[in-house]
Amino acid sequence: MPAERAPVITVDGPSGSGKGTISRLLARELGWHWLDSGALYRLLALAARRHGVALDDAGTLADLARRLDVRFADDGGGEPRVLLEGEDVTRELRTEQTGAAASRVAALPAVREALLDRQRAFRRPPGLVADGRDMGTVVFPDAELKIFLTASAEERARRRHKQLKEQGFEASMDALFRDILARDERDARRAVSPLRPAADAVVIDASDLSIDEVMARVRALVRERGLHGD
Ligand code: C5P
Repeated sequence: MPAERAPVITVDGPSGSGKGTISRLLARELGWHWLDSGALYRLLALAARRHGVALDDAGTLADLARRLDVRFADDGGGEPRVLLEGEDVTRELRTEQTGAAASRVAALPAVREALLDRQRAFRRPPGLVADGRDMGTVVFPDAELKIFLTASAEERARRRHKQLKEQGFEASMDALFRDILARDERDARRAVSPLRPAADAVVIDASDLSIDEVMARVRALVRERGLHGD
């Protein structure tokens, strides 16, 4: 199968909707590749800081995006380790500060353009589960299945708080809630690739659903579209 014909399932949605967990579980279940596109924007933000590049210097950031030296080391366990220029940045990548900086560089059209080919290169047999904001609308418009996972801002702040605590970070619930609203607003309003479901996406509101319940719905969709091996 030529790489560009490998099937793709896109999982888009706002941060904290659970799309990272769901897409990773799905990729593992199907034995497919996984693209965490948010990690690329986060890595670019980290690289910019390391190289002293301003977060609004679109031209230099786009160059940096094309040359970004990244490796995802999947050890088969939880989240893959992420290496930037050979250094493990897995922990730094997940901080609120990095997320906020990522959302700023992601608003620049030149940066999004520079990351397009990199993202499409993840499409390889037997298939790809792509997690992000514009996977179904821009990066893989021909995906076999598009899911848009959402949840209320309160629920997302609560989950994020729990997740950060588990990772050993302290954060105030109020500040997280405000950050989530600000990031949603910026992601939804930006001129290029705003956060919105593709016209042919299946929207799942996960506010009152457990991970298992969301996975059950996703599995049913995967079977319906004939994307399952058995
Ligand atoms: O999903 P995650 O929180 O890691 O993404 C970090 C930021 O990167 C988001 O707030 C968003 O601004 C940006 N992003 C994007 N397009 C994607 C993935 C992430 O603009 N496909």
